[in-house]
Amino acid sequence: MGKNKSKFVCRECGYEIVKWMGKCPSCLTFDSFDEELLVVAKKNGIVITIVPTSLNKIEENSKERMIMNLTELDRVLGGGLVKGSLVLVGGDPGIGKSTLLLQVCQTVDSKLSVFYVSGEESLAQIGIRAKRLKVESSSLLLANETNLESVCLHIETNKPSIAIIDSIQTMYSEELTSVPGSANQIRHATMRLMQVAKKTGTAIFLIGHVTKEGSIAGPKILEHMVDTVLYFEGDKNSSFRILRAVKNRFGSTNEIGIFEMGDCGLIEVANPSKRLLSGRNNNSMGSCVMPTLEGTRPIMIEIQALVCATAFGMPRRMSTGVDNKRVTMLLAILEKVLGYKIYNCDAYVNIAGGIKITETACDLAILAAIASSFTNQSINHQVVIIGEAGLTGEVRAVSYINKRIKEAERLGFTKAVVPLANEKDAIAASNKLTIIPVDNIKKALKMIL
Ligand code: TYD
Ligand code: MG
Repeated sequence: MGKNKSKFVCRECGYEIVKWMGKCPSCLTFDSFDEELLVVAKKNGIVITIVPTSLNKIEENSKERMIMNLTELDRVLGGGLVKGSLVLVGGDPGIGKSTLLLQVCQTVDSKLSVFYVSGEESLAQIGIRAKRLKVESSSLLLANETNLESVCLHIETNKPSIAIIDSIQTMYSEELTSVPGSANQIRHATMRLMQVAKKTGTAIFLIGHVTKEGSIAGPKILEHMVDTVLYFEGDKNSSFRILRAVKNRFGSTNEIGIFEMGDCGLIEVANPSKRLLSGRNNNSMGSCVMPTLEGTRPIMIEIQALVCATAFGMPRRMSTGVDNKRVTMLLAILEKVLGYKIYNCDAYVNIAGGIKITETACDLAILAAIASSFTNQSINHQVVIIGEAGLTGEVRAVSYINKRIKEAERLGFTKAVVPLANEKDAIAASNKLTIIPVDNIKKALKMIL
């Protein structure tokens, strides 16, 4: 007696302690501990001999992929959905996860049966949405259920080809004492559904809401349990949505799928570069174009900058779609290397279309856009600018120059400013584009402006 019969598990990160605390020592969230009763496992001493199988006797079933007929989703999954796999689709609430997966029900081969379980919306609500999305699949079965055992039982007995669980946070197991949505419930439900998927061969999609900290509630604990983790991202104010593979046991994690949210659901964007450059003004000041890499795919983006005299004592530096600290660093390079007096100017940098970039290969393009706005000189709209900037004013090499150059050629650009170190590969990639190699920022900006 006197022993602990319960433990406390953090709702956010899954950290376990024996006594309640107000603040989680791991993720520093306040009031995030749920009490869970410990169930002591019975030791019955049964040992079963395992019979290992030789590698060449294992049937190759990895080729058994189900094609969703949504090119962008199929690509992100690595060429279709693998039978018996568990795929987690995470994203902010309202970003379009339910919409995407309900659309899948329509596009998949009608021979495949789909079971859609919603713990969030009533059947009538799903019906309204399905009508709007023009989903009319006769092989689609819907259920409004939060009981994990009932859902698993249905999948085990009926063995649908695909099951969609919307969302994992609403699933509730009676075997546990903790409340729905707690880390323990989510972990248990995921583990149970994983077993069901492997046993029946049903591919299961789990929808998971991301908490404000940017992790799926009970975050990393889910990622290692599932086969594939996809994140659905996008700015709510923009209609652009990006589906990104963060982990994939059956394919590359570099792929992204691009969609646009419209009145009738999500539409695939097959040519994102063209769509992103569609509203561009030719030869305007403070604007230039560069091919950035999203996964393995090059996407042409427009970088815009605005530099104007500051009205207050402190100049403002604001950026959307690119790291603010990086922009501050680039502004400092312009001051030091080119002697621009930007210290009494406000500077704004924006990536058009709500796209976010993290790679350093766009440094030179950002510098060019800022310099263009500062000096009131426009940049030729037929030029793309590629290169990483160094603090001493040098232009450094970037990766995958050939893909970037090919994309520029495909979209009809005529000139490309590239780092000197990438010159050979750039020339080899295209015979239409004029390649302008540069090794330092000062020279580069002289050529561009
Ligand atoms: P939803 O799929 O419910 O998001 P999630 O499941 O990720 O929480 O998407 C909801 C948003 O999508 C909502 O703000 C409205 C918008 N939407 C459209 O713009 N067009 C549509 O055809 C649909 C179905 C939704
Ligand atoms: Mg939803």
